[in-house]
Amino acid sequence: MEIQKKVIGVLTSGGDAPGMNAAIRAVVRAGIEKGHRVIGVRRGYQGLLNKDVEEMSLRSVSDIIQRGGTMLYTARSPEFRTEAGVDKAVANCHELGLDGLVVIGGDGSFRGARDLSNKGIPCIGIPGTIDNDIGSTEYTIGFDTAVNTVVESIDRLRDTSQSHDRCSVVEVMGRRAGHIALHAGISCGAVSILIPEREFNIDVDVIDRMRATLKTGKQHFIVIVAEGVGDSKRICEYIEEKTGIESRLTVLGHVQRGGTPTALERVHASVMGYRAVELLEQGKGNRVVGIQNNRTVDYDINEALEMTKDIDQYLYKVAYEISI
Ligand code: F6P
Repeated sequence: MEIQKKVIGVLTSGGDAPGMNAAIRAVVRAGIEKGHRVIGVRRGYQGLLNKDVEEMSLRSVSDIIQRGGTMLYTARSPEFRTEAGVDKAVANCHELGLDGLVVIGGDGSFRGARDLSNKGIPCIGIPGTIDNDIGSTEYTIGFDTAVNTVVESIDRLRDTSQSHDRCSVVEVMGRRAGHIALHAGISCGAVSILIPEREFNIDVDVIDRMRATLKTGKQHFIVIVAEGVGDSKRICEYIEEKTGIESRLTVLGHVQRGGTPTALERVHASVMGYRAVELLEQGKGNRVVGIQNNRTVDYDINEALEMTKDIDQYLYKVAYEISI
């Protein structure tokens, strides 16, 4: 059966994440290799509203697989969140001749993809966010690099906290999720990892733990606070007040969003980009791609948006028990 050639759009939306470029590259290369045209939409849904597009070629995605950020730029578009905005985007898709769209972003971006799909533009979502907070996939593009960036930074902080017998309190990103905090925390031997998914008592879960380990000879500490917990400054001050150990707060901020994507990102992003093109080619839309048990999977977007993800309980238990 001959496959009908299509015009496939691709955009990145929401916060950028290392590995997005690898996904764009895969969509462009797979699309063109299979005989389709691929149009890059710049600055996410806002670019769709402004018809800010470029024809992609095999060479327009050369030399990007190793780069952080997104070559298509990204944005958060308040206009697209309105019904009129979605209608305008649909009209623009028709004008541009797009038969389908690949959306690389987080769950807000997936909701946009669902809205477009509901109005007749088949969309496929690829999870791209450092937060790893998407229920339908074990992995989101950017998470692995962000965790590695945090770990590298904390290793440096450890050198100086060790030299000064201090406590380093480190605030990491993750929006309302604690995945970055937990994975970085276990990797860096943090004495306490405070995340929004778990209630904690600062006196028990931080101060008492520090006091207990002081008795075993430990002299410097790393405490990780996920941004979703809030007020890391106050937490840092409280630790110093209660333990008498000089404490310093480091808010890692947007450095966590940059840098060279790890090999893992590049592999998963490439495979998910390829799968997105296969789905559009099969005439499917309103689906998201993901990784489960190291395999590529896809789900209906509505079903995917209903899925929730808790932190890895076992990892949390292990981190808690061995960092004493
Ligand atoms: O969703 C990715 C993320 O980096 C979150 O971890 C963080 O809360 C947020 O985006 C920051 O957004 P902005 O780049 O708009 O400051």
